[in-house]
Amino acid sequence: MDETNFSNDRVASDLLDRMFVERWSSKAFTDDQLSEQQIAVLFEAAHWAPSSSNRQPWLFVYATEGLDRARFNSVLNEGNALWATKAAMLVLVFARVVDEEGNDIRTAHFDTGAAWMSLALQANRMGLNTRAMGGIDLDAAYTVAGVPPEEFQTICAIAVGLPGTLDDIDPNIAKGNIANDRNPITEIAFYGSYLK
Ligand SMILES: Cc1cc2nc3c(=O)[nH]c(=O)nc-3n(C[C@H](O)[C@H](O)[C@H](O)COP(=O)(O)O)c2cc1C
Repeated sequence: MDETNFSNDRVASDLLDRMFVERWSSKAFTDDQLSEQQIAVLFEAAHWAPSSSNRQPWLFVYATEGLDRARFNSVLNEGNALWATKAAMLVLVFARVVDEEGNDIRTAHFDTGAAWMSLALQANRMGLNTRAMGGIDLDAAYTVAGVPPEEFQTICAIAVGLPGTLDDIDPNIAKGNIANDRNPITEIAFYGSYLK
């Protein structure tokens, strides 16, 4: 298998679809806003994700500008607030963990992860950048987004917007704003048994 160098300095086999390697989580965003159509397509991508018994336990509550956005920004921790407040859109991500009969949805987080990845890949295809953030006030997110904690768990926030340049971020952040590599595939995929 030959290897290909991608625009974000990642190296991958040339058989792999480019979308997996071209997506990366930059912290740099421009001031541009997203159109309603762009936003709609992102959530359309998310809603096609597979889920256990097709329960679709993901929930996205989002804000772009104005007072709603100021409320959403308030859940970010200090480090994330340094760059994520500039992104055109902040999305709070929740997973429905209890179904209508009161049963636990065991795979809710897994399913919601699939939906986030769908959104992220679609965003990349549209020339947008996404970065998920676990560094948020998980309890405040329920109030900010009007989501009942008895039924949902806060998972993370996602910053979405047009990719900026290093000039769009604080110089201290810019230094570390590079695409991350990955562990070798031999450490994550095993034939037959993980234990030797
Ligand atoms: C659930 C989740 C939580 C994350 N939390 C943060 C965060 O709080 N702050 C941050 O800067 N990046 C955060 N990230 C981004 C990861 O650091 C990033 O995805 C990882 O380093 C891999 O890099 P890549 O997305 O560019 O491939 C988070 C990513 C995920 C999926």
